[in-house]
Amino acid sequence: MDKFIIEGPTPLRGTIPISGSKNAALPLMAAAILGDSPTTIHRVPKLRDIYTFNKVIRHTGTSVEFHEVENKLVIDPTKLDTTVAPYDLVRKMRASFYMLGALLGKKGEAKVSLPGGCAWGPRPVDLHLKGLEAMGADIELEEGYVMGAFPNETIPGGEFTLEPSSVGATVNLVLAAVRRAEKFVINNAAKEPDVVLLCDSLSKMGANIEGAGTSTITIRKVDSLSGTELFNDPDRIETGTYMIAAAMLPGSKLELTGCKPEDLGAFPKAFKKIGAELGINGTTITVSPNGSVKPVSIKTAIYPGFPTDLQAQWATMMSQANGDSSITDSIYFDRFSYVPELNRLGANLEVKKNTVHINGNQALSGTSVMSTDLRASVSLVMAAMAAEGTSEVLRVYHLDRGYENLEEKLNAVGAKIRRVDE
Ligand code: EPZ
Repeated sequence: MDKFIIEGPTPLRGTIPISGSKNAALPLMAAAILGDSPTTIHRVPKLRDIYTFNKVIRHTGTSVEFHEVENKLVIDPTKLDTTVAPYDLVRKMRASFYMLGALLGKKGEAKVSLPGGCAWGPRPVDLHLKGLEAMGADIELEEGYVMGAFPNETIPGGEFTLEPSSVGATVNLVLAAVRRAEKFVINNAAKEPDVVLLCDSLSKMGANIEGAGTSTITIRKVDSLSGTELFNDPDRIETGTYMIAAAMLPGSKLELTGCKPEDLGAFPKAFKKIGAELGINGTTITVSPNGSVKPVSIKTAIYPGFPTDLQAQWATMMSQANGDSSITDSIYFDRFSYVPELNRLGANLEVKKNTVHINGNQALSGTSVMSTDLRASVSLVMAAMAAEGTSEVLRVYHLDRGYENLEEKLNAVGAKIRRVDE
């Protein structure tokens, strides 16, 4: 397993190109299966989760070519002959569960492993299953697998209300309905840009979808979908991550290119309150600190609210603010595994229920810390770049899931990160 050796403190000065979005690419890959001919997807990041999903899709007999140099995927579903997504692949990456909607939508049947845990436990999928039943699917749970089937080529559809709103459930229901349901209405649908891009892309393939980006999405069945060229969005979470890193590292002057600022929702509004210099010019965002970071407390929310995927990164920056603050995660109540590791670096964070209380003005000093999940681990890298001395961040495979060329991008603007095989 690899680890990072990081020297700090270092400012970030220069330009970082933003990669394609992981969380927008995965639904597009599932949508490609629904086509009756090959689909090309541009700006696909070279990430572990993408390689994992490639394997899951190939398991169905669909061919997937990843032209890595051009970040281009070509998916040809014409030879799809298996409607199974096996446990050993699905357990590695939760979004593999999108195969349920894609295979039901394409073939009218699917056998897909539950994505780790049970349908109703931590990271549940109960809304996915109840929504599919409301659409007219037969859903059975058998030995950790979901067995799904539509009784006919065309099903009446109906409507379903997501409570709470769910990105994954919205994606799965749209994938299942576009070629099957006379009319299906999703209430309290997710409005994330990832969902809007999926619906726009399916419409480009020939689907009949109304209301993408609003709380009510209406899908009407079409008999066929044709493969086409799809263009992935830039990664809004990678963008926010680097904006926060630059704002918390004194002396930084960072330019981010290839961004889509309008996808950042409420984040820029909170960001401006910390007092950093923020420039947004087309697809280029520039950030530099402006004296000390002001303490800004936030509460995560569904889009366009403050993204839960930036919660850990924001907490890291708040440990450097000139005052105390707190962060409440209203999406995931237990997404604080980074806290003990950040405290090992000298921060002073305390979790009470789903709120983390952060003391500002904490001097960080290098030590060894353990990554636990994707967004927690990037916050440890950010803290290590601010800490005095040498840090080790272990198990960086978590990072490789969601940040393309992380150390190359950061070293190119002044960070001192070395990857070594643990
Ligand atoms: C997506 O996960 C993202 N993953 C997550 O990013 C992100 O944190 C999350 O949306 C919230 O924005 C991908 O896009 C691949 P949800 P998803 O269903 O779809 C509850 C990252 O770091 N819920 O919107 O799994 C759930 O417990 C990842 O890139 C149910 O109760 O999230 C949570 O509290 C981490 N029942 C809330 O909804 C269900 O059936 C939102 O979850 C489904 C969800």
